[in-house]
Amino acid sequence: MATEVTSEATRQETKARSFGENIESDLAPKFLRVVENAAIACARTMGRGERELSDKVAVESMRRTMDSIPMRGRIVIGEGERDEAPMLYIGEKLGAEFPDGSGVPEVDIAVDPLEGTNLCATGAAGAITVLAASEAHGLLNAPDCYMEKIVVGPSCKKAVELDAPVADNLKNIAKRLDRDVQDLTIVVLDRPRHEKLISDIRATGARIRLISDGDLSAGIAAAVIGTGVHAVMGSGGAPEGVITAAAIRCLNGYMVGRLVINKPELEERIARMGIRDKNRIYRAEDLAPGEQLIFAATGVTDGALLRGVRFFGEGTRTSSVVLTLMTGKVRFIDSTHLAKKPDVKVRFM
Ligand code: FBP
Repeated sequence: MATEVTSEATRQETKARSFGENIESDLAPKFLRVVENAAIACARTMGRGERELSDKVAVESMRRTMDSIPMRGRIVIGEGERDEAPMLYIGEKLGAEFPDGSGVPEVDIAVDPLEGTNLCATGAAGAITVLAASEAHGLLNAPDCYMEKIVVGPSCKKAVELDAPVADNLKNIAKRLDRDVQDLTIVVLDRPRHEKLISDIRATGARIRLISDGDLSAGIAAAVIGTGVHAVMGSGGAPEGVITAAAIRCLNGYMVGRLVINKPELEERIARMGIRDKNRIYRAEDLAPGEQLIFAATGVTDGALLRGVRFFGEGTRTSSVVLTLMTGKVRFIDSTHLAKKPDVKVRFM
């Protein structure tokens, strides 16, 4: 069953066409295939306790599927620099080749082939395969460092600030959501660096959900009503921050982030990348400024928004979300990938 929410579709489609090539409509179904295939591949390794193996099969699958897509793709966020990652490295060119390349869209791609490698390796909830894509230069090439982040939903636009006291942010969120601070649930990565943040949140009476990994999927949950997540706070990966920002823009949520530049080598790295102000506060629009954005994720293990991969006699079932900005679509997709056998049967959901 696929549920689709379409907003201002006609106007947006027309605007998209005026760009000459509609990246979103052309590529969203193809990127769905990328995250589905990667999820199926790494879900086979679930619970084996081998996080590197889980990541490797997701990376290899993503690369393989991406290379079958007619596009001039470029990885802007990936598995690391060229000398540290054999594939999906920053700057890698991907996509099926065409003799003259005309009409083949230029696309920037940010991937996290398996977000929550430990979650997959231990069979814990919340692992996903995920990517974001845009027209060229539509996603910030963020360094592999931490980013302080606050992610909230559409009702809480501009209600939070990175430098405001935690109690003020929570009071503002509660007010916008028309509830008491004690009725909020805030997701925080369970890390020693968050000791003060956690004690500040506890002091307000708000509830906390500590997670062992996966602040990207938590951020998406914060922007969707009904997930029971009202905000994500704390520092996590900056690359994950950019991919979250793409989803947040598609979901009309709100996000602020600041790179954590605490080592001389990071100072040099951001200077090389052309980032001049290390204290800059980024909003989702700065992290993912694209006019056309695609966000695609498939659950590997069960999570707040997506179910994990299920294998059974008749095939494999996956649960995915695909978001597009300009064309304004939010699609939750439940796919059954049928086994290749003559007597295969399809069950009504
Ligand atoms: P992996 O995908 O590499 O397993 O990372 C998951 C994650 O928990 C992210 O969700 C988060 O942003 C980051 O790692 C936090 O990093 P750290 O584990 O160093 O605190």
